[in-house]
Amino acid sequence: MLLGTQRVNSYGHLEIGGCDTTWLADEFGTPLYVLDEAAIRANCRSYRTAFESCYPQNRICYAGKALLTRAICKIVQEEGFNLDVAALGELYTALSAGFPARSINLHGNNKSSEELELAVSKRVGHIVLDNFLEIEMLRSIARKGYRRVNVLVRVTPGIDPHTHKLIRTGQADTKFGFNIRDGAALTAVRQVIAAPELHFKGIHCHVGSQLLETDAQVQAVHIMVKFMHTIRQHTGVTAGELNIGGGLGVRYIESHRPPSFQEYAEAITGELISALNRYKLPYPILVQEPGRSIIGETGTTLYTIGAIKTVPIKSKPGHRTYVAVDGGMSDNPRPQLYDAVYQAILADYADRPAERIVTIAGKHCETDILIWDTLIAEPHTGDILAVQTTGAYNFSMASNYNKFQRPAVVLVNEGQADLIVARESLRDLIRNDRIPDRLKATRRTPAISARYSQPEPIRS
Ligand code: LLP
Repeated sequence: MLLGTQRVNSYGHLEIGGCDTTWLADEFGTPLYVLDEAAIRANCRSYRTAFESCYPQNRICYAGKALLTRAICKIVQEEGFNLDVAALGELYTALSAGFPARSINLHGNNKSSEELELAVSKRVGHIVLDNFLEIEMLRSIARKGYRRVNVLVRVTPGIDPHTHKLIRTGQADTKFGFNIRDGAALTAVRQVIAAPELHFKGIHCHVGSQLLETDAQVQAVHIMVKFMHTIRQHTGVTAGELNIGGGLGVRYIESHRPPSFQEYAEAITGELISALNRYKLPYPILVQEPGRSIIGETGTTLYTIGAIKTVPIKSKPGHRTYVAVDGGMSDNPRPQLYDAVYQAILADYADRPAERIVTIAGKHCETDILIWDTLIAEPHTGDILAVQTTGAYNFSMASNYNKFQRPAVVLVNEGQADLIVARESLRDLIRNDRIPDRLKATRRTPAISARYSQPEPIRS
C-alpha cells in the first residue's frame, strides 16, 4: 500500500514528497517521523469539500492532539481549518504559532484555572464545558476578565462504537461530558443559559476514534439533534452549533477500509438534515474535529534495522524472525496501548516483493513489538524500515522511556525536506534534572567506602 505521495523511485527506494527516504534517514538520522505536506493539504481540502458539498454551514477544527507543531498550525490555518486544543501546552503551541485565538476550541475533562484563564484572556473562540465545576470556574474567571465567553456543552450521547475500548468516549459510562440520559446535560445547558458571563453556542460530542464505519456517528447525530429539540422545548433556546467531534478512521493496513470523506459526509449530513427536519429545527453550524483522518496516513516513521534473530516457536511455522529497529514504544506506544496494527516497507528495497514474514521489535526493555508477523522484503542489518500511517498519536504520544531521545520530525514536499521538530539531544534529557546540593558531594555508604578505599592487600 502506498499512501499520499509515497512512490517507489528509480533506485527502488521509497520516496515521500519527492524525497528519497534513504537520503532522509542519512541526513536527519533515525528514528525519524516524516510528514507528507501535500497529503496533509489534500486531506484538509477533500474533507472540507466533501462537507461543503453536502451541508454548507460547517466549520472544521483540526484536532491538535493527533499531532501538533507550529508548522502544522500554519498548514491547517492556511487550509482554512480552525483548531481544537485539549490542554494548556496545545493552546500555548497554537498561540505561539500565531494561530488566531478566535479560531480555537479549548477542550479537556478537568480544565485547570490556568488553562481557563489563558483561554479567556486570549479570547479563544469556544470553550467546551465538560463538568459542573468548570461552569463555576469559568463564570468566575469570565467575571474577573469582564469577558462573555462562548461555550459549548459536551454531552455523552450513550453510544458504544466499534473501536478499541480505550478510544470509545460516547458511551454513558465515561469520564467525558454530561450525561443526556440522567438529565445532567440539560441541567448544565440550563446553568449556562442562565449565566450572564457565558454565551451558550451549542452542544458537543465525540463518540470515539478510528471508526471504520459510519453507524455510530450517524446515531450520535440523531441523538444530538433530538437533544437540541429537548433544549428548545425546555428553555426556548435553539443551539446554533452542533459539534460532533472527530473519529473517522484511517488505513493502518491494507485491509482497513474507512469510509471516504465523501461517504462519511453524506452519511452524517443525510441524517443531520432529516433529523433537523423531523424536529423542525433551524440548521445549526455543523462543527467537526477530525485529527487522525487528516494527519494519520500522512506520517511515516523511518527506522534503521539492527539485530535480526530467528527463534524457535511452538506453533507453525516453527520459528519467528525478530527484526529489531532503533526505536519502539517511546516513539509509537499505540501497539502496546491499543493493540494497534501497522504495515511497513523496506525503504531501500521498496521494489522487491514483500515475501518474508517477520516481527518488527522495538529496542526498549519491554516486549515492545511494533508489528507482529508482517510481510516485508528480505531485511538486512542497516536497512531502512518505513512504518506507515504514523502521523497521528505517535509523535504526540512519544515519551523518553529508557531515556530515549524523541525523534525529529521532517516535513517533505516536492523534493524539499524541512526539519520542523529537532531530535532531542542527550543534554535535553537532563535539562530539567536537578541534583540537590546535599547529594552533590559524592559520598559512599560506609560499608562501600571501607571496602573500596582500603588498598587491596598484596599477596605474594
Ligand atoms: N475531538 C475530541 C473531543 C476528541 O476527544 C478527539 C480524540 C478528537 C476530536 C479527534 O479524534 P480523531 O479524529 O483523531 O479520531 N490516542 C488514541 C486516540 C485518542 C483520541 C482522543 N480523542 C489513539 O492513538 O488511537
